[in-house]
Amino acid sequence: MNDMEEIMEKYHYGKQMLETEIDILIKEFSFNHGYNPVEHIKSRIKSKKSIIEKMTRKNLEINTTNMVNHLDDIIGLRIVCSFIPDVYDIVSTITQSRNIIIKERKDYITNPKSSGYSSYHLIVFVPIYLKGKIEYVPAEIQIRTVAMDFWASLDHKIQYKFDGDNIPAEVEEELYRYSRAINELDTRMMNLNELMKKYKKEF
Ligand code: GTP
Ligand code: MG
Repeated sequence: MNDMEEIMEKYHYGKQMLETEIDILIKEFSFNHGYNPVEHIKSRIKSKKSIIEKMTRKNLEINTTNMVNHLDDIIGLRIVCSFIPDVYDIVSTITQSRNIIIKERKDYITNPKSSGYSSYHLIVFVPIYLKGKIEYVPAEIQIRTVAMDFWASLDHKIQYKFDGDNIPAEVEEELYRYSRAINELDTRMMNLNELMKKYKKEF
């Protein structure tokens, strides 16, 4: 097995460990709260093509050392939930896990990106057990609402269509406006959900 294949094996193993840990944490949360906040979960390993593209974009010489040292998102896991408070509940559940180490957090919900992109990102380390030793592999976890996910997938399609740049200003502006509209909708849905909880208590 060559160097690259051996490293990719580790990432595959890390992805499995992360999926299992997240699955357990969500089950535990659902049991404790009588409510499952997750709509769906998706995970992926970055393709070799995307790895090379990203390293080229970052002006890194293409080799496995640079890949291991500079890319934190070869393992990616996305958790999509219904309401904004669910996002923060999931973040705090993951943060409290003894098996996942938090390296970095980015709250693009409180501080959206200039594109309008909203999501909560965690860069974490996941333990893998190899030949009696523990190693840690990095992973990026994105946590967002269904509405934010809808926006991000449309944005992604547009970026792809225009190859990441030269997006017409009116398309960019329109997208940004929709991101604000989605944020307002998310807030209203959250308030309605809180209102429903009040009614449920009265039964
Ligand atoms: P990278 O060097 O690309 O990793 O940038 P970064 O470390 O600043 O990462 P950031 O947290 O900004 O973004 C990482 C991931 O979030 C991307 O790979 C996308 O999946 C997602 N993302 C960030 N910005 C946008 C955006 O404007 N639109 C969409 N659709 N996704 C985004
Ligand atoms: Mg990144």
